Amino acid sequence: MGGAAVIDGKAFAAGLRERVAAATAAFTAKAGRAPGLAVVLVGDDPASQVYVRSKGKATAAAGMAGFEHRLPADVGQDALLDLVRALNADEAVDGILVQLPLPRHIDENAVIAAIDPDKDVDGFHPVNAGRLASGLDGFVPCTPLGCLMLLRDRLGDLAGRDAVVIGRSNIVGKPMAQLLLKDSCTVTVAHSRTHDLPALVRRADIVVAAVGRPEMVKGDWLKPGATVIDVGINRVEGGLVGDVDFADAATVAGAITPVPGGVGPMTIAVLLRNTLVAAHRRAGLPYEMDAL
Ligand code: GUN
Repeated sequence: MGGAAVIDGKAFAAGLRERVAAATAAFTAKAGRAPGLAVVLVGDDPASQVYVRSKGKATAAAGMAGFEHRLPADVGQDALLDLVRALNADEAVDGILVQLPLPRHIDENAVIAAIDPDKDVDGFHPVNAGRLASGLDGFVPCTPLGCLMLLRDRLGDLAGRDAVVIGRSNIVGKPMAQLLLKDSCTVTVAHSRTHDLPALVRRADIVVAAVGRPEMVKGDWLKPGATVIDVGINRVEGGLVGDVDFADAATVAGAITPVPGGVGPMTIAVLLRNTLVAAHRRAGLPYEMDAL
């Protein structure tokens, strides 16, 4: 392994969770109720069950109220939409998260569109995607916002830096590109049809890999000193690996996130932060967006 600094997302996330817990206690004292997060899980996908369980634990540890709703895999779309509408109307619920992926017979876009945008702590609703693209306050998807926090912490001002985002999903790639653009990076979004990806990545000061291809990004793709954020979580023989060949990339990069322990722990910490923001907005209390 080379000289790259390893970006400790686990430690950063722990700090963020502590700040959220302190602000949650202050909110609860002022508002007379705790911020509430409702999580909806449909079916019994094992990975989703793990995520939902850890979200429930993190919610309680932050001093928030957690509401967990489990529905069978064969639940009808209308019943799921009815639950979402009931959560929209529930005053104790500030944030609603419907765990994805949903079973194939359910239209994910219809479910996301049914969530009140002001409770959409995942930031997946088209209104929030539009707010982000327009530079308006809204909810930003948790994983890319966590990546941005790590980048700012590492690099300070991002203005003028060349950034390449590999992957164009609605959950990570697209919102990541918007966030970097908002911070005045020069942003390129690469995807499966991109020509000569290594040459493109070699120009980047910041590389965010979110494609789901084990160890695809190699050391000789990188500009020396580049900051590399690896969003990939790929299960392979021998454990979990990212989208970046960590050992190889670490010989060239200036700083790099490990898998696990990099971006992963940030997602739930940012979800709690988004829920806290939602609670303040709904209660009409002032909240410094950038304080966390
Ligand atoms: N499935 C994988 N990641 C996520 C996420 O951030 N939010 C939701 N709702 N589902 C997911």
